[in-house]
Amino acid sequence: MSARKPPMLAGLLCLLLMLTSLSAAAQAPIIEGERFHPEPGQRAMVVTSHTLASRVGRDILREGGNAVDAAVAIGFALAVVQPRSGNIGGGGFMVISDEKSGDVTSIDYRETAPAGAFETMFQDDEGNVIEKASRFSANASGVPGTVAGMAMALERYGSMPLEQVMAPAIRLAHDGFAIPQRFADGLNDSREQLEKNDGTRRLFYKADGSDWRAGEVFKQPELAATLTRIAQNGPREFYEGETADHLIDTIRAFDGIMTREDLKNYRAVERAPVHGTYRGYDVYAMAPPSSGGVHIVQILNMLENDDLTRMGFGSAATMHLMSEAMRRAYADRSKYLGDPDFLDVPVEALTSKAYARELRAQISAGRATPSEAIGPGNITPYESNETTHYSVADDSGLAVSNTYTLNFSYGSGIAVDKAGFLLNNEMDDFSAKPGVPNAFGLIGGQANAVGPGKRMLSSMTPTIVKRDGKNLLVTGSPGGSRIITTTLGVISNVIDHGMNIQSAVSAPRFHDQWLPDELRIEDGFSPDTLRLLEGMGHHVVQQSAMGASQSILINEDGFQGGADPRRETSSAMGL
Ligand code: GLY
Repeated sequence: MSARKPPMLAGLLCLLLMLTSLSAAAQAPIIEGERFHPEPGQRAMVVTSHTLASRVGRDILREGGNAVDAAVAIGFALAVVQPRSGNIGGGGFMVISDEKSGDVTSIDYRETAPAGAFETMFQDDEGNVIEKASRFSANASGVPGTVAGMAMALERYGSMPLEQVMAPAIRLAHDGFAIPQRFADGLNDSREQLEKNDGTRRLFYKADGSDWRAGEVFKQPELAATLTRIAQNGPREFYEGETADHLIDTIRAFDGIMTREDLKNYRAVERAPVHGTYRGYDVYAMAPPSSGGVHIVQILNMLENDDLTRMGFGSAATMHLMSEAMRRAYADRSKYLGDPDFLDVPVEALTSKAYARELRAQISAGRATPSEAIGPGNITPYESNETTHYSVADDSGLAVSNTYTLNFSYGSGIAVDKAGFLLNNEMDDFSAKPGVPNAFGLIGGQANAVGPGKRMLSSMTPTIVKRDGKNLLVTGSPGGSRIITTTLGVISNVIDHGMNIQSAVSAPRFHDQWLPDELRIEDGFSPDTLRLLEGMGHHVVQQSAMGASQSILINEDGFQGGADPRRETSSAMGL
């Protein structure tokens, strides 16, 4: 017979149990019941914004390739199946973590300004910015970096030959594929801009002028031929061979300044990523010329000493604190960030815990700081999501986080005649004039002025988070200026709010970029919360979906993929 507990002690125990379960419920309201389920994988995971690209990555892994082989194959496949952002005419960044060696590195294949570029090239004689010149002209394009970057990643960290990893993309371009609704809508809705250019119209629209419909087959023979030349002759084909000839012929036809010499001189660069710590986790993200890594770490540093777990996901207190931290980081972005090959970017100072403490001390608990009190500026509401991010991880301990882009949807809208691909409009990421916002509403200063051979400042933030030396989270997003805060949100959702990766990716997002002075939110936050935020002085503005974070979480249960539901074609595939 067991001894009976005295009634008072039993009551106390009961109360303790109740309090414990109440506090657990308060700490993790989202995990309970798991509304969203990640895609499981035992030995590898691929998450991209397009089912066909995910399939390409998964098949390369099945054939014995590693995560880098798969990432390069996906990069070329997305250039075929998702031409609005997948590309060989643009550029981007790839962060690679090798658990075995402990090394985390990155490939910077950002575009560069042509040698003939100059600071005032997008201004008129009176010094006013010429609207859209940095977006819809041959001079909107930086020298593309994707082919050099993919080839560098493969050569240094892959295990398969270029021909093998490019074969699926060539097949998709040559044989065609059934287009999804999003593909059809994208081209049908962009007719006005894209059909201005004969080459683009011929490549991307039907001869009879009718709209695209989902399920129709889209073939790209010119692109297939270009990819075949690159696969057979190597990446220099793009920069010095027949493809370079076609590219420069197109640029000349549109009176652009890029030359064959610019293409020949292009080089991808391997750089150390920015490293920070957050609550015992190691965060590695892209270094300048992206602003992403610096500001992710800077914001996390500002948040680290507050108990976000207790404050709760989506509470006014959490959103207030995070948005105040965000706007301070974006204010710094406008002043300090640019191409590290041309100026000293104070990465260490910006990412130091001491500086973050100083900034955190400026944030008051119940009151928003007006952005004018942090720095001056103007507003531009227009934004686009058109960049694309994907993540790959394998059981050899390799993880790849890649974000690349043409900048806005379909880039400059100018396709390279006879070579079948669109050119970027990345020159808009420079500040056309210090203090005047670019198309993302981002203000830049002298640090990001246009200059020959310079890389334009980016927000792309491919990120890998490690714990105790092991790859834990592979993440990133498209979304222009909102890339940094989208990626931040996923990291915080996992670390602070204990969400599984699908919940972390699906949860509603919010964003504050200092200027314009507004707290942008997605659908999904409660009206009570929004009223509280407005009461604190935040200018809350509801926006359409932000970002598309294709992410992976790796833990004792294996690989878990979180494909972003904001893209109907997002797809996680495990092995
Ligand atoms: N083109 C967007 C970015 O690089 O931030």
